[in-house]
Amino acid sequence: MAGTKITPEGRFLLRFKDQKSPAKCSFPMQGDCYIPTKFVAIFRISMLRTHTCGELRIGDSGKRVSLSGWVQRSRDLGGMTFIDLRDRYGLTQLAFNMDSHAGLCEKARQLGREFVIRASGLVKERESKNAKMPTGDIEIIVDELEILNSSLTPPFTIEDQTDGGDDLRMKYRYLDLRRGSVRANLELRHRIAIETRNYLDRQHFLEVETPVLIKSTPEGARDFVVPSRMNQGQFYALPQSPQTFKQLLMVAGFDRYYQIVKCFRDEDLRADRQPEFTQIDCEMSFVEREDILETFEGLVRHLFKTVKGTDPGTLPRMSYADAMKFYGNDKPDTRFDMRFCELNTLVKGRGFKVFDDAELVVGICAKGCSEYTRKQTDELTNFVKRPQIGANGLVYVKYGTDGSFKSSVDKFYPADELKKWAEAMGAVEGDLLLILAGPAAKTRKALSELRLEMGTRLGLRNKDHYQCLWVLDFPLLEWGEDVNRWFAMHHPFTSPLPEDIAMLDRDPGKVRANAYDLVINGVEVGGGSIRIFNKDLQKKMFSILGFSDEEAQAQFGFLMNAFEFGAPPHGGIAFGFDRLCSLFGGSEGIRDFIAFPKNNSGRDVMIDAPSLIHDEQLRELGIKSVAAPEKSNP
Ligand code: AMO
Repeated sequence: MAGTKITPEGRFLLRFKDQKSPAKCSFPMQGDCYIPTKFVAIFRISMLRTHTCGELRIGDSGKRVSLSGWVQRSRDLGGMTFIDLRDRYGLTQLAFNMDSHAGLCEKARQLGREFVIRASGLVKERESKNAKMPTGDIEIIVDELEILNSSLTPPFTIEDQTDGGDDLRMKYRYLDLRRGSVRANLELRHRIAIETRNYLDRQHFLEVETPVLIKSTPEGARDFVVPSRMNQGQFYALPQSPQTFKQLLMVAGFDRYYQIVKCFRDEDLRADRQPEFTQIDCEMSFVEREDILETFEGLVRHLFKTVKGTDPGTLPRMSYADAMKFYGNDKPDTRFDMRFCELNTLVKGRGFKVFDDAELVVGICAKGCSEYTRKQTDELTNFVKRPQIGANGLVYVKYGTDGSFKSSVDKFYPADELKKWAEAMGAVEGDLLLILAGPAAKTRKALSELRLEMGTRLGLRNKDHYQCLWVLDFPLLEWGEDVNRWFAMHHPFTSPLPEDIAMLDRDPGKVRANAYDLVINGVEVGGGSIRIFNKDLQKKMFSILGFSDEEAQAQFGFLMNAFEFGAPPHGGIAFGFDRLCSLFGGSEGIRDFIAFPKNNSGRDVMIDAPSLIHDEQLRELGIKSVAAPEKSNP
C-alpha cells in the first residue's frame, strides 16, 4: 500500500497489479461485488471524511484531505474567507481563496453558524499560526465544498465561553453538548467509568444489573413511583439505590458485586444533587471494615493515578466525633486546617451574657487577617446572621501585628484574657479570631459555614488540590424530634460496631455504626457500611426503628427470609459517580457532567418532563384524572 494516494472523491481505490498508481473508482458497492483479480489492493474510503477536525498537524502538509463538521465561525477578509470547522475532536481552519476559487469562496460566505459541511483540499502550513489550537499550525486550502445540512441560527454561541444562560442551554442541551468544555466533561465521565470497571474487574468484581421497577428501599428520601397497569392500584418504586438487591446477591454467593447504576430520589435539589443520578455501587462478602476500606481506597487511588495523574497516597481517617468537634461537619473540607477551638472554660463568668448563657463557645483562627476592616468584619457578621446559617452574632478578636488586641468584646475581656484565647487557638500576631456562641449543634454548624467561607476568601480551597478523607464510626441512629422516634443514620441494614452492640437496649443514641463515608474536598463522595447479616439483630434494629414485626415482615420480609438461608458476613459502599466526575473536573455542580440533567425544579426542560398524560392512559392505569392547575390533559 506504500505510496498509495488516498483521495476522498471515490468510495473505492483499486490498484492494478501491473501499475504503481491506483485507479480511482467512484462506484458505490451494493450487495455482492466481484473484484477482478487484476486489482491487488482495495481500499474503502469514506466519502465524508478522511480525518477528524482535531487531527491534522504540520507533518500532514501537502496531504489531500476531506473533513466534515459544523461551522463554528467564519471570517470574510475580502480576498480570503476563513471558517473554523468543528467536530467532536477539535477545530480546523478552512481557507477559501477568492482568486483561485471565486465560486467556492462565495458559497463559503453564505454558510451560517452550525451548518454541516464537507470540505476537501490540501493541508498547508499557516502563515499566521495559532498556538492555542492543536491544529493551529495548518489550514486546509479548500477546493471542494458540500453543504450536508443547513442550520437555524443557534440561540447561544457554541463556544467554551458561551452567552447562553442555564435555562436556554438546558432547553437546547444537544447544542450545549457541542461545546468543547461540556463534551470534555462527558469524556472525563467515560474515562472514570472505564477505569472503575478496569480496577473492579481486576479485583474479581462482577457487574450485575438489578431491577429498576422495585419496591420502595429504605434510603430515607422519597420514592419516585410507577403505577402498574396489570396490578391496578399498586405501584412500583424506582430504586433509591440497589441496596437490598446487592445484599441478596451476597446471599446468592456472588461474593464481589458492582454496578454503575442509575438511582432515583425525590428530594430537594442542589448543585450536587439530581433526582436521577448514578452510583458506583459495590458489595463484598466475607469482609470486615478494613477489607472494604483497603479495596476501595485502591479504587480511589487507581482513579486518581489513571485519570488525574496523581497519587493521593494513603487516605487519612477521622472519626465522626472528631469531624464534628474540629470541623462542625461530618464531611470536613481538609484542604485547609482552621480547626475549631472550644473556649467555654476560658470565657465564662466574666459578665458577658451571650457567652455565659451559651452551651458552647467555639472559635476559629483566620491566619493573617488581623487587618480586616470594619466593613469586612461586618460582612462576616451578616454572613453568619443569614437565616440559612442562623447565628445571632459574631465575636472577633484582632491580634495585631504589633502584639495588640482589639475585639468586639473589649468591655468584658481585657487584653491578657484575649491573649489566653489566642494561645488556646494557636493564634500568632497578625491573626483574627472568629467566635460563635449558642446551642452546641447549631453553633458548630454555623461555625462550619463560616470556616468554609473564610477558606474560600483566603484562597485555601483550590479545586485542583485534592484532599481525601475517610470518616468513620458514625452514630447508628439519630433522633427524629418531630416524630419522636429513632431513624437509621445510614440505613436499617447497617451493623453497629461490635463493641457497641450491648448498648443497643440501654442507650441506642450512643451506639456507633460500622459505617464509613469517603469525603473529598468537603464533598461526600461515597458511603457504606458493614451490614447486619444476623436475622435476630436485624429484627431488633427494625423494632428500635419503630417497625412492628408485621410491618418489618411486610416491607423487608424478602430480605429477612433470605437471611434464614445462610447469609455470609458482608458489607459495601456506593460512590456518587456524578459527584466524583464533577470533582475530578474541578466543578461544584454535577449537572455539567450528566448528558441530559434535570433543572432545580426536577424538570427536563428539553423534553418538557414531567408532563400530563392522556386521560385514556390514566384510565388504563386505574388512576382518576387529576385536575391540572393550568393545562388540561392532552
Ligand atoms: P448513600 O445514600 O450515602 O448510600 O449514597 C451514596 C452516594 O451517592 C451520592 N448521592 C447523590 N448524588 C447525586 N444526587 C443525589 N441525589 C445523591 N444522593 C446520594 C453521594 C453518596 O455518598 N446504598 C447506600 C450505599 C451502601 O450502603 O452501600 C447508599 O445509597 O455521593
